[in-house]
Amino acid sequence: MRCIADTAPRPGGPLPTWPAIRLREFRPRDVPLIAQIVADALREHYDASLYVSLSQQWPEGFLVAASPLDRPVGFLLGVTQVEHEARILMFAVDRDHRVQGIGSALMEAFFERSRARRLRRVTLEVRVSNATAIRFYTRYGFGVTDLLRAYYSDGENGYQMARDL
Ligand SMILES: CC(C)(COP(=O)(O)OP(=O)(O)OC[C@H]1O[C@@H](n2cnc3c(N)ncnc32)[C@H](O)[C@@H]1OP(=O)(O)O)[C@@H](O)C(=O)NCCC(=O)NCCS
Repeated sequence: MRCIADTAPRPGGPLPTWPAIRLREFRPRDVPLIAQIVADALREHYDASLYVSLSQQWPEGFLVAASPLDRPVGFLLGVTQVEHEARILMFAVDRDHRVQGIGSALMEAFFERSRARRLRRVTLEVRVSNATAIRFYTRYGFGVTDLLRAYYSDGENGYQMARDL
């Protein structure tokens, strides 16, 4: 699978080309499918109005990977709350679409958009138990900057991670 927006060659060669996944900005009608991905992947439920209001803050920072039928199969929701910094608030790919390069395409496109906005750094938080995501972020140059004790609602600790752009 190679995403249309994934222009940079991947280390290890190109991915197989299988149905085109398109990256685009969030639309309010994406909420039900994004909420489903969030419930499954992040074990969280948010009101629909949250996605819509966050999308208004920085529309280019809320990226959706859409199937050929325009159904969201992954997304990355970034915000800018601190000067010169982007923060990834939510990032997930539908279980059946993982390990095909969609997460990478979302992350690379997000870096491009953050640079276009002249941001200098990207931060995020991740559960200490989420080895898959931590490995993914490490591959993208993120390093742990802080341990966030009982950061999650179930009491789990989080890592804050960051990388310069
Ligand atoms: C983290 C997450 C978004 C990554 O999405 P993804 O679409 O699977 O990401 P990619 O496919 O680009 O990369 C995943 C791995 O598959 C590998 N990969 C990608 N395409 C591949 C292919 N065609 N063949 C083999 N491996 C491939 C990548 O190299 C990467 O390996 P690595 O992490 O060991 O470096 C996804 O695992 C997810 O949604 N997890 C649950 C939610 C979550 O934890 N979110 C983060 C919260 S902070």
